[in-house]
Amino acid sequence: MPNLTLDEFLTLRISQRCQHFIHNNRLLALVYAQQLDRPLLESLFSLANAIRKLSQSRDTRLFLRTLLSDRRAMLYFTQPSTRTFLSFSTACQILGMSTADVRDPATSSQIKGETRQDALRVFSIYHDLVIMRQSEADFCENIAFQMLSWPGHKPIINAGSGADQHPTQALLDLYTLHRCFAQTGGVDHKKIMLVGDLKRGRTARSLAYLLTNYPGVELIFAAPDELAMADDIKAHLRENSTPFTQTQDISTHLSDVDAIYMTRIQDEWDQGTTKTSIDYNRFGLQAQHLKTLKPSCCILHPLPRRKEIPAAIDSDPRAVYFDQVENGMWIRAALIAHMFAVDEQILCSPDK
Ligand code: NCD
Repeated sequence: MPNLTLDEFLTLRISQRCQHFIHNNRLLALVYAQQLDRPLLESLFSLANAIRKLSQSRDTRLFLRTLLSDRRAMLYFTQPSTRTFLSFSTACQILGMSTADVRDPATSSQIKGETRQDALRVFSIYHDLVIMRQSEADFCENIAFQMLSWPGHKPIINAGSGADQHPTQALLDLYTLHRCFAQTGGVDHKKIMLVGDLKRGRTARSLAYLLTNYPGVELIFAAPDELAMADDIKAHLRENSTPFTQTQDISTHLSDVDAIYMTRIQDEWDQGTTKTSIDYNRFGLQAQHLKTLKPSCCILHPLPRRKEIPAAIDSDPRAVYFDQVENGMWIRAALIAHMFAVDEQILCSPDK
């Protein structure tokens, strides 16, 4: 149990806060993308590859389902979600974990005035793992810290904290980049353009953190001025010697980037007050852009998309956004296997 109050914990630098969520090289909670360092990323990628392979035949699928068949996970998702919710519940099923969920707080005792802290304490009594998505940026870290002092020290995974972070989406994005660049020297030294609402896009923010683990990576941030990448991320990139440039014109970079990470405008945060005259079309890919891209360039998107990637691009072999969807399931299963220390059993399986 940490010998700190929550207020004291929140005054610590993120690197010190991360230390509270790790024990014997295993994550007790995944709250921030900054917790994922290069060795852990590489080991999760190997584990995800092994789980993917073991899922190809019935006998080995059944073996995987024995690994956590005595464990239960709670999915507490009070913000809309399709992929993240389904891929976490599928990842749990792959490892044999049973799941329960609350998605609409109006169906829980929150409607009677129960605090979310109490609700989470209850979830942690019934379940061995809590996976949560909430609209407040800091709620997940507050709860993750408090959970360390609750009986059983149940692990927690951040599946999206407001407009701030989405570490497991960044993990699956990076796993996808790692696979795309498997034959071309890996992610190191690649030039990657992030496009769209970088200010409020939690996936782009978390991915920028993860990419600082890769020497030589150069980032290009393409966003309208109003939605530019925030200063906290830029400061982190400078501290970690990851060079970046900012632009409003994606077309000048299309021919020399190794990957493009598209995002949608996150206008759910506008609350109808900040109607702007931003021309979002300038931050979209068009089918005619495809001839300019390198043959090896890959096009990513966390989804859901709007018009920033027209369906005409989907059949291009460089479009990997539906691969991301699948990769998310394997890497989330790997993350859960790591947290519950069944990774060695997977890696030692002769069939992997
Ligand atoms: C993202 C999210 O929820 O932040 N989606 C996802 O998890 N795949 C991106 C978005 O909603 O635009």
